Amino acid sequence: MSKIRLLPDHVSNQIAAGEVVERPASVAKELVENAIDARASRIVVDVESGGRRLLKVSDDGEGMVRDDALLAFERHATSKISTAEDLNSIATLGFRGEALASIASVARVELISKTEDAAAATRVVIEGGRMRDVKDAAHPRGTTLSVRDLFFNVPARRKFLRSEATETFHLTNLVTHYALAHPEIAFGLTNNGREVLRVASAKDLRERAYQIFGSEFLDNLLEVSGGHKHVALVSGYVSAPRDRRTSRDAQYLFVNGRFVRDQLIGRALSEGYRSVLPHGVYPAALLFIETPLEEVDVNVHPAKTEVRFRRVAAVADAVREAVRSALASAGYMRPDVAEPSTAPHDQREADDSVAAMSAAATDYSPVSTPTGSAASSAAAVGEHRAPFEPARQSRIEFASPPIQDEEFLAEDRPEPDLVALESDTARDFDAIAHSI
Ligand SMILES: Nc1ncnc2c1ncn2[C@@H]1O[C@H](COP(=O)(O)OP(=O)(O)OP(=O)(O)O)[C@@H](O)[C@H]1O
Ligand SMILES: [Mg+2]
Repeated sequence: MSKIRLLPDHVSNQIAAGEVVERPASVAKELVENAIDARASRIVVDVESGGRRLLKVSDDGEGMVRDDALLAFERHATSKISTAEDLNSIATLGFRGEALASIASVARVELISKTEDAAAATRVVIEGGRMRDVKDAAHPRGTTLSVRDLFFNVPARRKFLRSEATETFHLTNLVTHYALAHPEIAFGLTNNGREVLRVASAKDLRERAYQIFGSEFLDNLLEVSGGHKHVALVSGYVSAPRDRRTSRDAQYLFVNGRFVRDQLIGRALSEGYRSVLPHGVYPAALLFIETPLEEVDVNVHPAKTEVRFRRVAAVADAVREAVRSALASAGYMRPDVAEPSTAPHDQREADDSVAAMSAAATDYSPVSTPTGSAASSAAAVGEHRAPFEPARQSRIEFASPPIQDEEFLAEDRPEPDLVALESDTARDFDAIAHSI
């Protein structure tokens, strides 16, 4: 039975519109999110030439029948919402019905998909938005979407793609962090045929982090667990105060399983560290915030990388207190040193975080997004690095400088080491992180 419908105009008009395909990692983000929404238990990403030549995502999720496989490439075609009210409590990572249409308009795409009940899979080929072929194919339950020759028909955008190594870094980073956000799903990533990441289904974040980074990950970080389920549950890991950075680049935030950038959470995190970290120095963090669906609006930014909380102050309190209690449990702070929740932010701190966060948000955003590259491009200071940065500090992170600045910055930043990227096991990430 088909599941996808075209959204009526009055609904699609309410959806934050804009370009969602900027680089291979933004394509991977959409495809991995689709696989997660399809309740896959296994997701495999294969990349060639930094995703320019090929970016293939295979899942064992619910798949699509033929009608859906065709409709999926239309704009505003989605199975995830149907009314304007649905926008008030979005339970899935996708909801705009835009991603596949956008990707297919700038690449050569092959979709092969099969539902449990269908006799055969459907194969659809679509190039630069034009349907080329539709026929039966063989495929187990699930979906394989191959994106070839990204921007083959948009030379202006192809020009902005960075080196293979840089694009591969972004891809690796993306898949690694989605694997961390969804421990229950088995993930694989290959780059030019070599395995970069392979993890079986894990029972929780701790086990997943161990699979990816090894035991040192757990030794060097503080575990965060706090908040309240009616407002925000906060979990994850933060760095010890000795681990110091001059930007927020090493802060990874997920809200209800979605990777986002959020000034508020970044600032609340800093507040949590206020008495143990000097001004202008930031902790590393891998934080997961779970809120009731109606408490958060994800229809804010076309690339779905920003959210708006209904009870902003309460979420900030939850994050700050969870971080403070992690620091207190580890002996870095007296548990009774409570600061008032309404403590005004130092203005410089607030400005810093706005600049850093808007810069950070550009990674999967249109090139035109306002940025503050100075904050995001600052190098890490201090010897200690959070092990959840799988490789070289300035390149691996979501929070890359905007593309225009990257060109400029490339002069004094060494290109990431391809050998490192192609390391055979994910565990090597840790070794890489500590060897540079
Ligand atoms: N891997 C997949 N498995 C099963 N169905 C899929 C998969 N990928 C896409 N679909 C179907 O195709 C539809 C369109 O996908 P698309 O990514 O374009 O939009 P969306 O996920 O609904 O919203 P968004 O644009 O926010 O991602 C989805 O709603 C879903 O029904
Ligand atoms: Mg989608």
